[in-house]
Amino acid sequence: MSKKILVVTGGGDCPGLNAVIRGIVKRASLEKDWQILGCIESFNGLLKDDVDVIPLTPENVSGIHVKGGTIIKTTNRGGPFQFPIRQADGSWAFEDRSELLKRRIENMGIDAIINIGGDGSQRISLALSDLGLNIVGVPKTIDNDLSSTDFTFGFQTAVQIATEAFDKLVTTAESHNRIFIMEVMGRDAGWIALNTAIAGGAEICLIPEIPYLPHIIAEKINTRYTNNEGFCNIVIAEGATTFDGVQTGSMPTDMGDQHFKLGGVGEKLKTELIREGIEHDIRVTVLGHLQRGGTPLAFDRVLATEFGVKAFEMVKNQEYRKMVVYRHPKISSVSLEKALEKPNFIVPDTDFLVHTARGIGMSLGD
Ligand code: F6P
Repeated sequence: MSKKILVVTGGGDCPGLNAVIRGIVKRASLEKDWQILGCIESFNGLLKDDVDVIPLTPENVSGIHVKGGTIIKTTNRGGPFQFPIRQADGSWAFEDRSELLKRRIENMGIDAIINIGGDGSQRISLALSDLGLNIVGVPKTIDNDLSSTDFTFGFQTAVQIATEAFDKLVTTAESHNRIFIMEVMGRDAGWIALNTAIAGGAEICLIPEIPYLPHIIAEKINTRYTNNEGFCNIVIAEGATTFDGVQTGSMPTDMGDQHFKLGGVGEKLKTELIREGIEHDIRVTVLGHLQRGGTPLAFDRVLATEFGVKAFEMVKNQEYRKMVVYRHPKISSVSLEKALEKPNFIVPDTDFLVHTARGIGMSLGD
């Protein structure tokens, strides 16, 4: 009898997801009797009233490593333990459907799940493993905020996209003697921001790990202007804050999404700089989801393919309750508990990236 693996992509999408899927399917096709299934829209394909699961074959995954997004869709709303259900009055309630998921997985004869996702998805992996399901996790996020792996796929692509955008803002800033504030993603981690700032040559970079002081930023800006001539380019991470530690964003009001959405700190900084007396023209660009779309860089395609091959081999060897990781120069694995132990944030005192930024005269706003 053939063995079945269910592949799931969860949380926000990320360049490289399709390359992982293709890696799993291609590797499995070299063995006898493995069937790979894709669960549509994270676990929802098995949580909704109508089951939505598709076969993944070498034919239908052919060439998909080049494409961004995920061919089996994803969502960052709910999950098996908190499935969102719309109420008659328009509000949302959440239902634990994990037992239904388990029953359906057993009835379909699925032997193991490969769950490709970030920290939220891997917490779900751990809880499903506690329920007795066989799970292998694959780390995914443009934020690079998982500590047990050197890199997550998608991160390098996001940095490249942000850097290319930054380069474009530099030339227009210079032409108009303007200050540009470019807001990038990354949640509570400053990896995308600081890498982009160094790659692009920003004068100022603000990250969540280092609270900023508006008057220090204003002082730095003033050094960039003589008789109103000059320009200044700032990269700000969406999770950056002043010393009050209050992040900028909002709670979504619809779709059963319970996550605080970061966004708007670039505009907040603009207001703070005007308050500090900056009179030059300040423009804000929010890159948003551009950083998550499009074709993955070669580095991310390779890493994602390695993760896919490794994930299949872990299922084959029954190495469950673990997550694939990249620890240079090896692709290996750690327990899900270890993978979730702590996030990967920049450590300002010891990280060489911070040292480098300061070493080239970049202000980090402190
Ligand atoms: O975690 C990836 C990420 O893109 C973050 O950088 C960002 O804060 C968040 O997801 C945005 O999520 P959404 O697509 O739900 O707005």
